[in-house]
Amino acid sequence: MNKEDLVVKEKQFITRAVHAGERADFSNVNSVVTPIFPSVGYTFADSNELDAVLGGEQPGYVYSPRYANPTIVALETAVANLEGAEAALALPSGMAAIHLALLGAGVRAGSHVIAAADVYGATYTLLQNIFTELGATVHLVDVLDLAEIKRILKEVPVTAVLVETISNPLMKVADLPQLAALAHTHNARFLVDNTFCSPYLCNPIRFGADMVIHSATKFISGHGDVMAGLVATTNELKNEMVRLNKLLGSSLGPFEAWLTHRGLKTLPLRMRQQCQNALTIATWLQNHPKISQVHYAFLPDHPQFDLMHQLSGGKGGGAVLSFEVRGAGKPEIFALMDALQLIQPATSLGDIYSLMLYPAISSHRTLTSDERHSLGIGDGLLRLSAGIEDAADIQADLAQALEIV
Ligand SMILES: Cc1ncc(COP(=O)(O)O)c(C=O)c1O
Repeated sequence: MNKEDLVVKEKQFITRAVHAGERADFSNVNSVVTPIFPSVGYTFADSNELDAVLGGEQPGYVYSPRYANPTIVALETAVANLEGAEAALALPSGMAAIHLALLGAGVRAGSHVIAAADVYGATYTLLQNIFTELGATVHLVDVLDLAEIKRILKEVPVTAVLVETISNPLMKVADLPQLAALAHTHNARFLVDNTFCSPYLCNPIRFGADMVIHSATKFISGHGDVMAGLVATTNELKNEMVRLNKLLGSSLGPFEAWLTHRGLKTLPLRMRQQCQNALTIATWLQNHPKISQVHYAFLPDHPQFDLMHQLSGGKGGGAVLSFEVRGAGKPEIFALMDALQLIQPATSLGDIYSLMLYPAISSHRTLTSDERHSLGIGDGLLRLSAGIEDAADIQADLAQALEIV
């Protein structure tokens, strides 16, 4: 019987129902896997200890997950380790991670931000609508146009430069070392959304990034059953984000943190298979008569093929590719999507399942048709996220669906 049970032993039934069995001493329970700690509150030896923890003079948990939580700390420790960062912060979605990273980097009213024009649709809208409405100036650029980025950095004081390692859906690869050098020469923070590479393919901190952002909903969790976000960064920048987030209250739940951490363990195995599958499908599609263009960074004719090799250490070009169905518009693309049998026409990427997405109606839906076309996202463009299935089965499903068009 634990101490708590002795205290409540003689209490009334209703009191015992609430307290009996709780707050046992787990110090001799050496579980292999980190447990899920759903507790919001924590107990202390006495009020002096509580005071010391609340005051930050002693480590400990007081209020979770908005302040900190042991299950979430385990995930953050793992991701910091895999990204080669001092620290990481978990958040309830990739969008929450991008929002907090921008605030943590110091973006406020009057700040200038440079962002790749073809960032994820919601990131684009977050910048263009919310941050702009709040008084920031956002400069949207072609991530490959280093001269233009340099010109803006020289012209105005830029707080943050935000790019994606591999852009979505056109698979442009950002020159992280050059962009980091440019940003730092002008005292701007360099933020990299590394979702498409995952920490397995690329660690942007090695190339100079100050903050590495993930939609952990994708490859990190990997099974399409949890929404989460992460920012890997320095202790200093994490502390600043924690300070802000205690007020913003954008907290990942411990159950989601646990699922994300479980998925993370098989990241390298999944990613290896998914990269191989994506390359096989991309190579096959390149020679398909109904396909006019394939975008995949590990195809030898991709303009940033060498850069992708450099950033990934030759490990791969990621699991995601996109392709233009020759002469197709919305009706043909809908028919193709509806004919798929194995590949799931679902709005995500990075799962163990192969997923097909039509950017015009999903990831880039919030953009106007003109904005989409100016980015090169036409009405016949489809995005495939290769899963871990056998490549031949993915290919056969796509082949029969292309027959319909
Ligand atoms: C590159 C990229 N960043 C961020 C996000 C947003 O992540 P979440 O959906 O977890 O908020 C996504 C979502 O698709 C994404 O593709």
